[in-house]
Amino acid sequence: MKITVLADNRASNKSNELQTEHGLSFYIEHNNQKVLCDMGATSMFADNAELLGIDLNNCDFAFISHGHNDHCGGLGYFLENIKGKDVYIHSAVPKEEYISTRHETRRNLSCNNKLFNDYKERFRFLDTTTRIAEGCFAVQCNEITAPMPYGNCFLLKNSGEKEENDTFGHELSLAFVTDKGLVIVSPCSHCGALNIIHECKKATGCDKVHAYIGGLHFVEGENCMTEATLFAEAVKAQYPDTLFITGHCTCDTAKGFLEKAGNGITTFSTGDIIEF
Ligand SMILES: [Fe+2]
Ligand SMILES: [Fe+2]
Repeated sequence: MKITVLADNRASNKSNELQTEHGLSFYIEHNNQKVLCDMGATSMFADNAELLGIDLNNCDFAFISHGHNDHCGGLGYFLENIKGKDVYIHSAVPKEEYISTRHETRRNLSCNNKLFNDYKERFRFLDTTTRIAEGCFAVQCNEITAPMPYGNCFLLKNSGEKEENDTFGHELSLAFVTDKGLVIVSPCSHCGALNIIHECKKATGCDKVHAYIGGLHFVEGENCMTEATLFAEAVKAQYPDTLFITGHCTCDTAKGFLEKAGNGITTFSTGDIIEF
């Protein structure tokens, strides 16, 4: 299995040519499948893919993890330029608007909802956990027992009736069943990584978690060290043999702490190739 980071907040330490943005995109190769997971904030993921020698026309399908525009910002580019490939996304996304109130500023984080109409035939809308290919599941987190990230408190949704705190019913993670165990790709982990892992194990029937890749949504601020410390402790107690590779919405303070905490937690940046 090979995962290439096409876009991330952190610049590549290998190439100056690759661009960086606050957005995430992975290109996942597993068995004979090639999956584009998220499309960053702009079409930058496609430029980086080209520089990395990846032809996006070869992907079997695309997947969008949730309705925030740092993950679906490149969707218009993809639909227009990469023909004939399905895009899996939660069915709630076209019906909702997403808003951030962080730093006392209101920002609209929604996808370009017009695309869902203009390219209707390209979407595969999912209502719940679904096996989308051989050994590949899109997993919705329904059971919340561990804390969700503190940073979610700045995130709202509006489904037309009222604006309310986003509970992330529109978030899906990818769980791949590999011969080493589960490999979970969860770009923002708004539902909480520990809850997502639990749900992926339930969905796949596979108890061994080989790796977890994605942002943890630990935002910079007074709660970040508390969240990172609790997470490191939980990982040590519950998943001592799992590799955690984080980036994107895990803030620099948390990344620095988690790397030092050991427990197999490392970080990714733009252009990284993760192989199992
Ligand atoms: Fe997000
Ligand atoms: Fe994000």
